[in-house]
Amino acid sequence: MANVGDISDGKGVRNVLPHGPLLVGIFRMAFSNLLATLSLVACVLSQKVIDLSASDWTLENLPLKISVPASVPSQAHLDLYAAQVIDDPYYGLNDFNLRWVANSNWTYSALIAGLDTSSSTQTWLLFNGLDTFTSIEFCGQPVASTNNQFRQYFFDVSTLLSNCTSSLLSIDFGSAPMIADQIAAQPGQETWPYGVEIIYEFPNRQFIRKEQSDFGWDWGPAFAPAGIWQPAYIVQLASSPSVSSDIYVRNSDFDISRVGQMNNIPPDQSAPWLLNASLDILGTLPQGAALHYVIADSATNQTVSAGPLNDLTTSNSTITGTVVLDPSLYELWWPRGLGPQNLYNLTVRIVDSGNNTLASVNRRTGFRTIVLNMETISDEQKAQGIAPGNNWHFEINGHEFYAKGSNFIPPDAFWPRVTSAKIQQLFDSVTAANQNMLRVWASGAYTPDFIYDMADREGILMWSEFEFGDALYPADPEFIENVLEEATYNVRRVNHHPSLALWAGGNELESLELSTVNETAPDEYGTYLAQYEQLFLNTLLPIVYANSKSISYIPSSTTNGYLELNFSLPEPMIERYNNKTPGSVYGDTDYYNYDSSIAFNYSSYPVGRFANEFGYHSMPSLQTWQQAVSPADLYFNSTTIELRNHHNPAGGLNTSNLANSSEGMGQMTIAAERWYPVPNKTNSVANFSAWCHTTQIFQADFYKSEIQFYRRGSGFPNRQLGSLYWQLEDIWQAPSWAGIEYDGRWKVLHYIAKDIYQPVIISPFYNITTGDFQIYVTSDLWSPAIGTAAFQWYHWDGTPITNISTPPTNDFTVGALNTTRVLATTLDNSTLDFNNALLHMTITAHSQLPNTNSDSTFVHENFFHAFSLADAELVDPGLVMTYDGTTETFTVEATTGVAVWTWLNYPAGPLLNFEDNGFLLLPGRPRQVGYTLKSDNTDGEWVHGVTVESLWNNTLAY
Ligand SMILES: *[C@@H]1O[C@H](CO)[C@@H](O)[C@H](O)[C@H]1NC(C)=O
Ligand SMILES: *[C@@H]1O[C@H](CO)[C@@H](O)[C@H](O)[C@H]1NC(C)=O
Ligand SMILES: *[C@@H]1O[C@H](CO)[C@@H](O)[C@H](O)[C@H]1NC(C)=O
Ligand SMILES: *[C@@H]1O[C@H](CO)[C@@H](O)[C@H](O)[C@H]1NC(C)=O
Repeated sequence: MANVGDISDGKGVRNVLPHGPLLVGIFRMAFSNLLATLSLVACVLSQKVIDLSASDWTLENLPLKISVPASVPSQAHLDLYAAQVIDDPYYGLNDFNLRWVANSNWTYSALIAGLDTSSSTQTWLLFNGLDTFTSIEFCGQPVASTNNQFRQYFFDVSTLLSNCTSSLLSIDFGSAPMIADQIAAQPGQETWPYGVEIIYEFPNRQFIRKEQSDFGWDWGPAFAPAGIWQPAYIVQLASSPSVSSDIYVRNSDFDISRVGQMNNIPPDQSAPWLLNASLDILGTLPQGAALHYVIADSATNQTVSAGPLNDLTTSNSTITGTVVLDPSLYELWWPRGLGPQNLYNLTVRIVDSGNNTLASVNRRTGFRTIVLNMETISDEQKAQGIAPGNNWHFEINGHEFYAKGSNFIPPDAFWPRVTSAKIQQLFDSVTAANQNMLRVWASGAYTPDFIYDMADREGILMWSEFEFGDALYPADPEFIENVLEEATYNVRRVNHHPSLALWAGGNELESLELSTVNETAPDEYGTYLAQYEQLFLNTLLPIVYANSKSISYIPSSTTNGYLELNFSLPEPMIERYNNKTPGSVYGDTDYYNYDSSIAFNYSSYPVGRFANEFGYHSMPSLQTWQQAVSPADLYFNSTTIELRNHHNPAGGLNTSNLANSSEGMGQMTIAAERWYPVPNKTNSVANFSAWCHTTQIFQADFYKSEIQFYRRGSGFPNRQLGSLYWQLEDIWQAPSWAGIEYDGRWKVLHYIAKDIYQPVIISPFYNITTGDFQIYVTSDLWSPAIGTAAFQWYHWDGTPITNISTPPTNDFTVGALNTTRVLATTLDNSTLDFNNALLHMTITAHSQLPNTNSDSTFVHENFFHAFSLADAELVDPGLVMTYDGTTETFTVEATTGVAVWTWLNYPAGPLLNFEDNGFLLLPGRPRQVGYTLKSDNTDGEWVHGVTVESLWNNTLAY
């Protein structure tokens, strides 16, 4: 047998680094009483799969005299925390205090019970993820070493088991930061100019294939955990030549495309569907093995079609077949807001020549095409007013749409504790906020299937990325080969999910990394560019194209796109880079600007086809800080708070230099002071809380300004068709760009994103230099919306301003995926007292939601003030709030003035979100606010702890 993964053929074994064998003997003694559990079953045939999570694992570090019960899947920090060897890793300064855990070697071991030891059995160790540098021993003998967190590893241990006195499985994990340093120090190792690798805490992350943010990021800690972080199995197959072969499917790749579809190119939507099914197996395929499929409607379980797969190709490890499917039988899958999420259960069986099933795989899938269209702007598009250059937008089932969403980072520094309940709660927040796309950022981990399954069901498109970011990477053959295995496994694993929207090579590589090299080492640019292309165009692109016809690929998250895409070339994609023609628009944009003085100056925003990253950081709420920080540290610039702020990044392991963090803290406070009255309260915790909240208001205000600018671009020459802000959620309790705090609490931003991502919005655009003032209605519906816009100026005390020539209403029609101007005028501080004037604007419009036949009404309201609220003549709005337990709504009313940034706050303990928050309230117009309760440990008492305030409260001392 020379199956892929057989130890002797080298394929399942990489690396390499010398870290010593385990002290196996000690474990043997410790477990000798358990040896009896090693079963000596000798029956033939029948596959046996032992889930290693069921074994009794021990985590040990002998020099440190630590030995604790452990879990699989898990990581050392989690097991040490559960055993009370360490404190909560997220508390206080444990990011730094627990460096010793990352710098130590850890051993996971367990005696495996229930093994079949008959000589006719073929036995495999199968790991869906080992984090990261391991030496594996089984039965007291070495099995292999591994060095890639993202690969699936499988090892034939049949010969070891045939001579096994103790079924001890023992996995030594070397310290990833130390091994990264060793690799970096190897003679002849690649180097880059200073600044190319962005160093957060531990350096040298680009040399290893481990979650890059495990070494720190500007929104997260650096725990560099180690462990068996994904499920692991022992697979035993009957291998007697006299019986029908036994087969285990270890991975599969199901691709549903339109016949003739090519990656990155909009397909013919009238073509039939093509199913390509490919199974990666352990075991041996018998002569005459074939594939059979069944597709059932996942709502009814009714079979839609079934039959053999054709054009079979087989190797020892993979069997592949295809079938053309009648498109009239399948309902399309759509993202949320654009149509229903129709899903199908696909079962593919491997059968022998007698039609006996040898193995079977079931996956839930859907029928859709999703393409990132980067084609040259056509003459027809130019005739519509679209600027020349290239397209850069997604098309779902042949339709352009506006991608609304955010960037998804690892939801926890420790993936094994990410539950489906946590992700469901997060995705409920995504869909509640009118988002249809997440960009799964490139330097975490490849997303587990249960998350894609949830995205399929919820209708959330997942722009997915390979795990490379904010560095350049080696291109030596060993590194490339390692990446090739990692990418092939993950592309095949997730390809059946209709939510999968794109594969991108990595984060900010073209826009930031290549330009940094070009600036700092222009003489070496060619060398580094060639290495970049070797990895991102010659390695990753062919893997996507070989395993999927349905998914587009870009080498870098932010990119000007290609000059040419030619499938007959050995490298089909020739990149544009900065080969741009003036006046043309190319690619997507990544924009951060920490000069808050121009935050609301929309001429400072990038004009591109799509905004894939933009943002500004803010503090989490007091309630979230209290989870992780002692009461004594609850003030704005306490050392603990400063050291948990990682923007600007520390740039290494030295925590006594606070200069970089202070800069980031200062950006938040300066923005707050510039744009709002700031708190100066006598109670220091109340003051801290109010400051945290004010940084959130600025963040939300800034994102709103950018998002409405980007959305308006859908009707401008740049034909802007997407905005994904940075970032959806937090990895821990700290300042960051997130809209959702670590435990799921919404910041002001998430409420504002919900508001401004509604299908039809009204938005003001003011040029403070010229006084030019315009109001637009923007719609991402697929049919025109007809409605009326209403405008009214007010003083802050709520009295209307009438001596101004703004018309009270304007009727409008806004086209599909378009914008229309509903007001153009000039504002002048000599006729309007800018410090005591705000414009309230509303729309009511009628149209249809995509893929529906019924009319819907769309309403939106917005407000505008020309000057900073720091100078506004705010008055006490006299806010009052009542709660009605029957309707489960809060009623909030401003009684004496306008309440701006009205905020309902709820106490620590439960998790909920209000229907609406952070809104403007005109006096005498009470608003009812419902809520969605996600968890409650207060038995409903929390409703009595809800408070309401507005920006006016910043002016009060208490
Ligand atoms: C497939 O397996 C057979 C039998 O073990 C072996 O002779 C052959 O070389 C293998 N083929 C490949 C492509 O690995
Ligand atoms: C970890 O193991 C390696 C290889 O055996 C060894 O060189 C290193 O000193 C160990 N590290 C620690 C902290 O014990
Ligand atoms: C059996 O394993 C022992 C070590 O556990 C080794 O010394 C011996 O050579 C092995 N015998 C065979 C036949 O592989
Ligand atoms: C479909 O089949 C699954 C698995 O057999 C079952 O759990 C589910 O209830 C069925 N659904 C319907 C609608 O029959």
